[in-house]
Amino acid sequence: MQVVRLAHETDFDGWREAARSLRAHGVAPEAALWTVDGAAELFAPEPPAAGANTVAERPFRVPKAFVELAAKAILHRSDERFALLYRLLWRLQTEPNLMRIVSDPDVARAQEFGRNVSRAAHKMKAFVRFREARDDLGEAYVSWFEPAHRVTEATAPFFVRRFTNMRWSILTPDVCAHWDLADLTFTAGADPADAPREDALEDYWRTYYASIFNPARLKVGAMQSEMPKRYWRNLPEAALIPELIASAQARTAEMVRQPATEPSRRVVKAAVRTSRDAPYDSAGPTELGAVAAGVDHCRRCDLWRDATQGVPGQGPAQARLMLVGEQPGDQEDLAGLPFVGPAGQMLDRALAEAGVPRAETFVTNAVKHFKHEPRGKRRIHKTPNAGEVSACRWWLDAERRLVRPKVIVALGGTAALAVFGRPTAVGQFRQQAIQLPDQTQGVVTYHPSYLLRLPDPDAKKVAYAAFVADLTFAWGLVKASAPA
Ligand code: URA
Repeated sequence: MQVVRLAHETDFDGWREAARSLRAHGVAPEAALWTVDGAAELFAPEPPAAGANTVAERPFRVPKAFVELAAKAILHRSDERFALLYRLLWRLQTEPNLMRIVSDPDVARAQEFGRNVSRAAHKMKAFVRFREARDDLGEAYVSWFEPAHRVTEATAPFFVRRFTNMRWSILTPDVCAHWDLADLTFTAGADPADAPREDALEDYWRTYYASIFNPARLKVGAMQSEMPKRYWRNLPEAALIPELIASAQARTAEMVRQPATEPSRRVVKAAVRTSRDAPYDSAGPTELGAVAAGVDHCRRCDLWRDATQGVPGQGPAQARLMLVGEQPGDQEDLAGLPFVGPAGQMLDRALAEAGVPRAETFVTNAVKHFKHEPRGKRRIHKTPNAGEVSACRWWLDAERRLVRPKVIVALGGTAALAVFGRPTAVGQFRQQAIQLPDQTQGVVTYHPSYLLRLPDPDAKKVAYAAFVADLTFAWGLVKASAPA
């Protein structure tokens, strides 16, 4: 039996080197025992017996898909992972297409590990909550987090990009990540007692969470799978969940809204594939659930890198009025829902004054990921460029094709560019019904954030009245159109 001692639990380089050496010396998977003892002692193979085998002389290239999967699966907590990956590597010598056979038990298991690890990384990005802590150097932020798999090192660069201007530490039982505004470093695992328990940010989180909680969309099973209970004890907003669930039914009864549908796994898989690869003129998703799944995995431009998640449109699948904004803001990025922050509140107020029930509209954005730059602790909105708008039109077009609204309102210049396909001056085209090639009528008006930013109160009043008038005009066009 060949014993391989890896330096640590996520020692992919050590595993790779040892696996190469074992294979070259013809050590079969059943003859290798993989351990981690922290002693950084790499495999030192016995010289092969004369004439034992000649595996080493045969050229052997490992498929890229295998290397990528192995780098991810090795972060899984299962003790089986090193041996499983070596068994796959060994089999690839004689079964070069093995990785394509998804029904093979070894391939299926490794892929399951990969999926579990991706999910754990996603949860870490969504559920790390920093608490304020001070030290000799001043303000710092500390979070305690228990990832389902060993994803801390792999996920830390995301937090560097997201919180570049904050000094922070993420403490976990496996390893701790530290960002000091210049370098990302790692130290040994910590204890929950090392992290601060409460700070003023908790109240902010609770208020915010309660305000974005949508009882009509509550699915307890789906919510617990999205926000598994294992993460609750470190989430300030989790204390609210039982009460919000208990009151959801009564609140839902007051709301007129069509619940969102959960896409099937098959649909999600197809959406993820198309979100990355599909050329612009290919057939897009065929249901809104697939758009939502695809948007979250979209790699058609680079904005996904610094965003928490993709934010798809929200509203009834047969809405007759579609409202298109620019891109999700800070709060929308965290909530995964369009127009829930200050611009959303301004929009809600104007819709109510125009007599338009928001629950009967489909609200979406030209660009589905939040583009921003860090400034201090804040994330400052950055206007998406024409390339990003064009890349994301694939999703907006899919939403338009699926919802088939009678009227589309473009809120501001970026939305107008996406909806009309060319720069369209807001002031020049207000109060006009613009015929679109798909028989929809387009209307252009101000973006609510523009109204929020206007410094002069009188100008603000005038612009707001115009905004309400434009929404009233659009709703009039809807009512004048043939019934849905
Ligand atoms: N601004 C937008 O354009 N869209 C949102 O969803 C929020 C703010």
